[in-house]
Amino acid sequence: MTDDLLALKHQTEAALAAAADLRAWDAIRVGVLGKSGSLTALLKELGKVAPDQRRERGAALNQLKDALAEAIEARRVALDAAALEARLASERMDVTLPPRPAQPGLIHPISRTMEEMAAIFGAMGFAVAEGPDIESDWHNFGALNIPAHHPARADHDTFYLPPAVPGAAPPVLRTHTSPVQARAMLERGLPFRVVAPGRTYRADHDATHSPMFHQIEGLALGRDITLGHLKGCLIDFLRTFFGISNLPVRFRSSYFPFTEPSMEVDIGWNRKTGELGGGGDWLEILGSGMVHPKVLANCGIDPSVWQGFAFGMGVERVTMLKHGIPDLRPFYDSDIRWLRHYGFNPLASAMLHEGV
Ligand code: PHE
Repeated sequence: MTDDLLALKHQTEAALAAAADLRAWDAIRVGVLGKSGSLTALLKELGKVAPDQRRERGAALNQLKDALAEAIEARRVALDAAALEARLASERMDVTLPPRPAQPGLIHPISRTMEEMAAIFGAMGFAVAEGPDIESDWHNFGALNIPAHHPARADHDTFYLPPAVPGAAPPVLRTHTSPVQARAMLERGLPFRVVAPGRTYRADHDATHSPMFHQIEGLALGRDITLGHLKGCLIDFLRTFFGISNLPVRFRSSYFPFTEPSMEVDIGWNRKTGELGGGGDWLEILGSGMVHPKVLANCGIDPSVWQGFAFGMGVERVTMLKHGIPDLRPFYDSDIRWLRHYGFNPLASAMLHEGV
């Protein structure tokens, strides 16, 4: 290879080595091999070379052309690889970054209490029963020994709905869960035990009453169910629910049209501190009694063969007591801050207490 060709070779190789990117590389390629490139010009001049030297010169030029084409291609491959490396490095993403903690949904305290109650009564052999929120006058009142014009109706602040047929008794938003007693008696085979948690409605509304609230009803019917069963069942339930094994429980004579005898149930607490247990004060917590024979008869059950007990309890009140929730109104506000504070982890078991 003649000196001029060697010089072109070295010069091109040096330029390629110095080319930092594909743009610089392309300028070199065009400058050497392009239409007016330096090597192309030498090839064009081959005709002017003396015939005796032409063959040798031609061979040398071809050799140089192959060598340079190879060097140019090699540099392109290297620059491509470097460009890819740079891009991979700049677009790097750390897939090991832990995700932001997700905010899990929480169980509302009312739902939680009703689940716990169903679990505790379930362990005592009670099944869960349900009834509609919109009830017939008969299920809510008549079947339960509260006929039209009975004074007990006045206590219930009932929401009446338009009657299906003019003149018929208007349906009501159930004022208690007791109509589920009537439904269970009509639908189930005897003996049976059910609890019925659900929504109830009364048209009184102040700081401690909401027009919609929750109750849980209980009904146990058999041939020989006694007041002793009622007391044992409710004492066990209350001590288990509140997690206080010696919680004082008092049965106080009362009146409900659908039970005879009737009793209200109080638990011991400290009125000043709100602490449950032996504080010397009593707090009313539920209504109960032996199912009135008339109620059994109204629902097609022979009261000379079957008897049993029933109870009804407000869910909000015991939820507030158990968890130290001071105010009733936020239960229904859907305020996410309140829910985060008082809500329950859905993955934690609802069976809270030993022995359940
Ligand atoms: N239904 C009654 C109430 O709402 C409670 C109750 C239920 C009392 C069952 C006795 C028996 O106050």
